[in-house]
Amino acid sequence: MSGHGDAHPMTSGKCGALRGTALVPGDKSISHRALIFGAMAVGETRITGLLEGQDVLDTARAMRAFGATVIQHGPGAWSVHGVGVGGFSEPSDVIDCGNSGTGVRLIMGTMATTAMTATFTGDASLRKRPMGRVTDPLSLFGAQAYGRRGGRLPMTVVGAAKPVPVRYALPVASAQVKSAVLLAGLNAPGETVVIEREPTRDHSERMLLGFGAQLSVERNGNEGQIITLQGRPELRPQSVAVPRDPSSAAFPTCAALIVEGSDITVPGVSQNLTRNGLYITLAEMGAEIEFLNPREEGGESVADLRVRFSGAMQGIEVPPERAPSMIDEYPILAVVAAFATGRTVMRGVKELRVKESDRIDAMARGLEACGVTVEEDADTLTVHGMGPGGVPGWATCATHLDHRIAMAFLVAGMAAKAAISVDDAAPIVTSFPMFEALMNGLGGDIRRS
Ligand code: S3P
Repeated sequence: MSGHGDAHPMTSGKCGALRGTALVPGDKSISHRALIFGAMAVGETRITGLLEGQDVLDTARAMRAFGATVIQHGPGAWSVHGVGVGGFSEPSDVIDCGNSGTGVRLIMGTMATTAMTATFTGDASLRKRPMGRVTDPLSLFGAQAYGRRGGRLPMTVVGAAKPVPVRYALPVASAQVKSAVLLAGLNAPGETVVIEREPTRDHSERMLLGFGAQLSVERNGNEGQIITLQGRPELRPQSVAVPRDPSSAAFPTCAALIVEGSDITVPGVSQNLTRNGLYITLAEMGAEIEFLNPREEGGESVADLRVRFSGAMQGIEVPPERAPSMIDEYPILAVVAAFATGRTVMRGVKELRVKESDRIDAMARGLEACGVTVEEDADTLTVHGMGPGGVPGWATCATHLDHRIAMAFLVAGMAAKAAISVDDAAPIVTSFPMFEALMNGLGGDIRRS
């Protein structure tokens, strides 16, 4: 997907109590990684529960372009016949990663230590996003990158013919950068070390261990986490059961919290400590969420969420150190904050400015259009809550090719006094293709406008 499609406006109207079970799709981060690690293993990896969102489909196409055999057998059921670490072949055309920062950054890491050249592009949103954060550490392995000004796509990466291992301290809390360095380290001889001051999502580390890489994680008081990977392992193919995506689960969960009378269940939501910041924050605000049947699924701890309308939620201060564990959830948290009582201050969120859109700006402008008072600075977003049912709505919000901005405002429309429209809901297919059907199945009133 390169963002050339027609805009697809959508409207969400005030609805009655939400009821039922919300089966959200597979985790996007784990789905990308299942395809990429599968492509680097020798033999056949089987995947179930794969997210068939456009971002992941673009990564599947890219893995084929590098020589892996990727086949869909049924809904969510895929196989990847991998070519082994260092076994990629040079793609014969440009790799289009569509809307996906995770896709392009992880794939750049994967090819950067193999002697080949690949050119990457993406849609209008991805072409605005900084790639230097990935190509800087990849250059330490010996790769070279030639992109547009500011390190933007389209970009050509020349992989290192004789890669050297790297020791790299992450300058930003980013699982994409961490993962790109680890993926590059797979085909470098010796030990590659990544140091992260604040822990970010750890799916790459968990899955690399599952695929048979030698990797250790050590906590060091001053430096943070030290991740050490031995290069040139033979990765063994795996059966990967992708758990449901906690970032997608956030949308029906938050909808039920703000729509009066709601009582829904969201099964199989990851409780991974590197992903659960939203749920901690909602509990602090007074959300009524029960975590039932805790268990292991696909190597992750999960629970079934029972979520009830929570009319007594209060605004809080969300501390900056929580940002990496809820980085994708601030748009929907900003919506919940608008329906809570009092002020919610989200600090340490400047990374939101380089997501699929500038999410601080997109949420601030959209909430203002809906009648909510918002303040922002470079690194902070403050929302003044208007209480349950208190948001006026009656606005059209710009989504800037950003799926999470589109879904956040459609959820807001379910509880606002008057309907809320978004100018373009098309990007929702990148992560949550069944969003409209799932929300309407619970009792929502979301339709094309
Ligand atoms: C992701 C990491 C995060 C997140 C993105 C998925 C990943 O990005 O926002 O949606 O799968 O590694 P950053 O690494 O830029 O924080």
